[in-house]
Amino acid sequence: MARRSRPRVDLARLPAHVGVIMDGNGRWAKARGRERTYGHRVGARAVRRVVRACRRMGVQTLTLFAFSAQNWGRPEDEVRLLMELLYEFIVQEWREIMDRDIRVVHLGELRRVPAEVRDKLRALVQASRHNRSMTLALALSYGGREEIVRAARRLAGRAALGRLRAQAVDEACVGAAMYTRGLPDLDLLIRTGGERRISNFLLWQSAYAELFFTDVLWPDFKVADLRAAIADFQERRRRFGLTDEQLDARRAGRAWS
Ligand code: IPE
Ligand code: IPE
Ligand code: MG
Repeated sequence: MARRSRPRVDLARLPAHVGVIMDGNGRWAKARGRERTYGHRVGARAVRRVVRACRRMGVQTLTLFAFSAQNWGRPEDEVRLLMELLYEFIVQEWREIMDRDIRVVHLGELRRVPAEVRDKLRALVQASRHNRSMTLALALSYGGREEIVRAARRLAGRAALGRLRAQAVDEACVGAAMYTRGLPDLDLLIRTGGERRISNFLLWQSAYAELFFTDVLWPDFKVADLRAAIADFQERRRRFGLTDEQLDARRAGRAWS
């Protein structure tokens, strides 16, 4: 097999927030005549690779979509195994997460998560809360729509108590009611596994995210693939609704000032 050339990443212009929809574990296993759950086990190794690589490069925030609100509908055995793998991940990575100064936060509805996993995750979030080198957000039992509904409910509750005026509801206020409160907007969204959809991931936060889809199945996702995604991101021109001429003028203005 031809060696993939090493994509050039400019460490001075990294995306502040990278999100990954880690998809394709089941198909990876099926292609090898194995159970879907085997794909999840091998996929856990890719999680470790990507967390380490992001920390090494200096990515500020990494969000991993580990389990969606809709994934609760999967066969019981598969759900159980995914929860076990999450538990193992937390236990096995705890030391390294602390040593590498990584702050772990959770996005999603913890109430549905089995008690052992919930308690371990809460403990890790608590233990790592002052770490500063990188934020690792685990989207687990997470859905983008569910998050927006929850935010709307919270704001409506405050309004009903007379603590919030309808006129005061703005983007900052809605953003602060999200699980991702305090995290930067998503810059780069990577989806492995060949599907070209968002599947209810970070709907609010991905308004201006650059999207990178790859056919590589998650267990095969290597650091070179991550670098390729970031290098591709760095080639894009983010206009945020403005024109190229406006952006050029801004850049020139900055250069002269
Ligand atoms: C992603 O892989 C892992 C989770 C959704 C938890 P899948 O299990 O969705 O794998 P495919 O898409 O069926 O191949
Ligand atoms: C998205 O993958 C969720 C995670 C990777 C955790 P799915 O496999 O659940 O998405 P769909 O069903 O193909 O949209
Ligand atoms: Mg899938």
